Amino acid sequence: GTVCFDHSKAVPFTAPEEWGQLEAAVRHAHFMLHEKTGLGHEYLGWVDLPVTYDETELVRMKQAATRISQQSDVLLVIGIGGSYLGARAVLDSLGHTFYNVLGKSKRQTPEIYFVGNNISSVYMSHLMDVLEEKRFSINVISKSGTTTEPAIAFRLFRELLEKKVGKDEARQRIYVTTDRNRGALKQLADEAGYESFVIPDDIGGRFSVLTPVGLLPIAVGGADIDALMAGAADARRRYLTPDLGENECYQYAAVRNTLYRKNKTIEMLVGYEPQLRFFAEWWKQLYGESEGKNGRGIFPASAEFSADLHSLGQYIQDGMRHLFETVLHVERSQRELVIGEEEVDRDGLNFLAGQSIDYVNKKAFEGTLLAHLDGGVPNLVVSIPELTAYHLGWLIYFFEKACGISGYLLGVNPFDQPGVELYKANMFALLGKPGHEERKRELEARLQG
Ligand code: PA5
Repeated sequence: GTVCFDHSKAVPFTAPEEWGQLEAAVRHAHFMLHEKTGLGHEYLGWVDLPVTYDETELVRMKQAATRISQQSDVLLVIGIGGSYLGARAVLDSLGHTFYNVLGKSKRQTPEIYFVGNNISSVYMSHLMDVLEEKRFSINVISKSGTTTEPAIAFRLFRELLEKKVGKDEARQRIYVTTDRNRGALKQLADEAGYESFVIPDDIGGRFSVLTPVGLLPIAVGGADIDALMAGAADARRRYLTPDLGENECYQYAAVRNTLYRKNKTIEMLVGYEPQLRFFAEWWKQLYGESEGKNGRGIFPASAEFSADLHSLGQYIQDGMRHLFETVLHVERSQRELVIGEEEVDRDGLNFLAGQSIDYVNKKAFEGTLLAHLDGGVPNLVVSIPELTAYHLGWLIYFFEKACGISGYLLGVNPFDQPGVELYKANMFALLGKPGHEERKRELEARLQG
């Protein structure tokens, strides 16, 4: 089995005869992606990456991963946005839920902590508490090499490492993932002689999970990066046809755009496996940053069921009807637990005796699907046979390509992110960064009201 897209539970809101009208626009978007003629065409390296990637670099990543395992009890992954979410999504989806606290007999690879994705002194000093008794390595990831959050974290944790083990040993334990030529981080890596990995010029942050940005930390966590790439390569081949009727990835793009045009302006990615929480975070960045511009775009949200059926569930069932859901459905659970039978049926669960917990989870999914549909919420279902590296690689490519097509259908440049700059400019000005004096005065006056 492979990843499948089911639009049958959106039919009351949009049927194939309707979204099928986007056929010509989808075909046009397809050629813009493949012939690099559309907006943002300089950032299309991800389209063929699953077959063009450098295999020797993959080998070097695996070697670095092995070295990190030998050197350290902990890997710190420093990065934000596209330099953070992909690795975390894959590690969480494939790894043990309680990975970091598993005993050595169940986990041979290092603990992994993420930092540099906030500016919280509490978060960072709590992490320092964890590191007190531990040997650690650092993978610092930043394409521009100038992003404030990871730069601050790198300065702090590099100093800590150097204090702990000395400059020479620290040099052996720092791994840098950045641009080939540009940026402060590149310069720093060259000067200090850190082992470096390159983020290709033509791949933007949110499309970079299958580059060293994601692959090195994923390899350190013990996941099979060859299988991940193989899944993405097979997905690439499957979704090569421009024919909407044949291409489920493009169908997803077409259906969500049709729903958007009918004022279904919020898409919730929902799953029934807590392991997928960060996959949804990755997906939100991918779609939010790609489509939310020029006053347009579906707002990407997420929920974790059944937990959120006891919170957001009320709104989804009965609130404003501007929502649709895309369910990430995992067909086969990797673990089975069976409900036992009790002599006295005090909790009333004996009718489930002998059933697996996953069977109950599946019925929750089916029951919710129909309830939400009856409540006026279109439901799309993306099924994945099992949470394996291969299928996850496939799923990543499915969503990336659908995002490119979808952004073009919406009429925006899916590959830029001008809107993330304004807060940075304000923050730098308020911090008194040289060269921002005038803006500082102006902003401070506004803050004082
Ligand atoms: O998708 C994007 O472009 C952003 O989310 C970036 O990934 C994020 O800002 C981090 O940038 P950098 O890798 O340059 O530090």
